[in-house]
Amino acid sequence: MNLSKRTKRQSIFILFTAGLLLGSIKSSYAQANTFKPGAIWPDDKGTHINAHGGGVLYQNGTYYWFGEHKIEGDAGNVAHVGVHAYSSKDLYNWKDEGIALKVSDDKTSDIAKGCILERPKVVYNPKTKKYVMWFHLELLGKGYEAARTGVAVADRVTGPFKFVRSYRPNAGYMPYYPAGTLQSAQINKLNPANRSDSIFMRDFPGGQMARDMTIFVDDDGKAYHIFSSEENNTLHLAELSDDFTAHTGKFIRIYIGQQTEAPALFKNNGKYYMIGSGCTGWAPNPARWFSANSIWGPWKFEGNPCVGAGAQKTFGGQSTHVLPVEGKKNAFIFMADKWAPKNAIDGRHLWLPITFKGNNIEIKWLDEWGLDYFDKQAAQNQSNDKSK
Ligand code: DGJ
Repeated sequence: MNLSKRTKRQSIFILFTAGLLLGSIKSSYAQANTFKPGAIWPDDKGTHINAHGGGVLYQNGTYYWFGEHKIEGDAGNVAHVGVHAYSSKDLYNWKDEGIALKVSDDKTSDIAKGCILERPKVVYNPKTKKYVMWFHLELLGKGYEAARTGVAVADRVTGPFKFVRSYRPNAGYMPYYPAGTLQSAQINKLNPANRSDSIFMRDFPGGQMARDMTIFVDDDGKAYHIFSSEENNTLHLAELSDDFTAHTGKFIRIYIGQQTEAPALFKNNGKYYMIGSGCTGWAPNPARWFSANSIWGPWKFEGNPCVGAGAQKTFGGQSTHVLPVEGKKNAFIFMADKWAPKNAIDGRHLWLPITFKGNNIEIKWLDEWGLDYFDKQAAQNQSNDKSK
């Protein structure tokens, strides 16, 4: 064999080995089989998942995670990029799907670069076959005073989403009072009973403030927007139109005057649950949960779902979404953000399992866990039932 032939073979061998090595490094990013709450969570490219204040949509065997794309430093507390999408089959390993909704270079756009665009949630509308994204929107340079909600739509799950409009919902509508609501619990239009009622009446003509939010789609296909309103004093739970892109004017107020943020709603065995937080900016506070037998309430305040060390500060996080695990019973993941306002991109994801205890739910800290947690939980419940 002459020298050049050997060199050629050697180079092929070296390239092949390097390829194998690179491949194994690349796929080592994709080998997670546990959750590590609060740790750096690499995507398929090895970059910490940049989807904060997010939510997850399950669609045809794949989970899609959407969240705020943050940049470094405190500049990252406003939107420079948009909403980032990721996909996963197993919930541990996430593929970067790019930016699903881009903020605009046009300074006159509602979603101009530098606006505040928080807590995006995406749902699928089977009637229109469109993906609908809702988010909390604050207009460029106006701090948190606009308190609007924004909506965007797409034909494909990962976008591109097209911005539709932003507004304050339910202008000119009084709340819906389910039969049996006491008159004393209703807003006295001319003589509001408290600060929150006064703010409600102040905003009655122009629409209600809408900040921290989530979207919930019920089993019957109806969708609801749940948001912090009335200067963050009171939650609103509002019905969306059949195409999910507008409010119908039907809504209720929840936990009046008690300053709930970060709502995350889910349903299990016919019962509705909501987890939220108090209102302390980026700093953590005790979580709170509510239950109801009907979406229209009454919603009962149930206290703090977190237990054990760190429970008084939600383990350093704030709720953003509750994710039902496909194919498992009583399996829900509490998703929370551990914010890093000084270096926003470094915000961490706290995913913890929710445990059902009779009529209660509990969330406890785990350094590391896997989806088999839910199977063990189910086996434990079964053996408890047998020994009763
Ligand atoms: C708490 C909210 O939950 C976050 O989404 C964000 O709006 C911060 N407040 C801003 O201080």
